[in-house]
Amino acid sequence: MTTSERGPKTSNINVRRGDPLVEITDVQKHYGDFQALKDIDLTVNRGEVVVVIGPSGSGKSTLCRTINRLETITSGTIRIDGRDLPKEGKDLATLRADVGMVFQSFNLFAHLTILDNVTLGPIKVRKLRKADAVREARALLDRVGVGQQADKLPAQLSGGQQQRVAIARALAMNPKVMLFDEPTSALDPEMINEVLDVMVSLAQEGMTMIVVTHEMGFARKAADRVVFMADGQIVEEATPEEFFTHAKSERAKDFLSKLLTH
Ligand SMILES: Nc1ncnc2c1ncn2[C@@H]1O[C@H](COP(=O)(O)OP(=O)(O)OP(=O)(O)O)[C@@H](O)[C@H]1O
Ligand SMILES: [Mg+2]
Repeated sequence: MTTSERGPKTSNINVRRGDPLVEITDVQKHYGDFQALKDIDLTVNRGEVVVVIGPSGSGKSTLCRTINRLETITSGTIRIDGRDLPKEGKDLATLRADVGMVFQSFNLFAHLTILDNVTLGPIKVRKLRKADAVREARALLDRVGVGQQADKLPAQLSGGQQQRVAIARALAMNPKVMLFDEPTSALDPEMINEVLDVMVSLAQEGMTMIVVTHEMGFARKAADRVVFMADGQIVEEATPEEFFTHAKSERAKDFLSKLLTH
């Protein structure tokens, strides 16, 4: 899909690109007595890019972690591409392949080369032949701009390069949706843009993405919708333009005023 087919990012939020890919309905999540997610309803359509924003502790990471079942939910339903989240076993491994996840810390295997980090999942889970996995991995590493680093160990790369490898590793599983949880917040400022550029191009190519980030530039450039969370709830949803210029709720206005003065 090209950029022009996707249309301008400021288009009306009711314009949907495709059928529902991630459907979160009436989800509650408790940790003991504490309720981390309350009444969460969120549908992300195929090809859509949703930025999740909100204060620390509002449940953004918890939401991401429930979508690929790193955390179980107390009640409600989460469907990916029309199927309920599997509980365990082989189906869960398939789900994990469908839902690519990139965290704040890159979580690469320190003792494996960059190439081996990217080919491991495709060989073990997708059952690709090594030669095919290597060919795909090299193409993905080129695409995120670290093709020259394939034979190095993670510690020999900069943080920005490692995070781009983490993106390539997630893409190597052929995911239907990519989740990003503050992918640039552990990076030195000069490395943030090289990671955001990769994410913007993924968005332009039509990848369905849920991105927890406070990078307003990314949200404005790439997001169809901004979802604002506070105290475990979705308080507000809007286009990036609407949200950053005319937030409706007091919570969002207060949050944005703090974000802008940092
Ligand atoms: N394993 C856990 N056990 C108990 N409480 C937890 C656990 N994980 C998260 N919480 C609590 O759930 C709430 C939401 O946490 P979460 O990490 O989802 O917030 P967040 O919006 O991602 O915050 P941040 O911006 O700091 O990353 C917090 O109050 C947190 O303390
Ligand atoms: Mg978090």
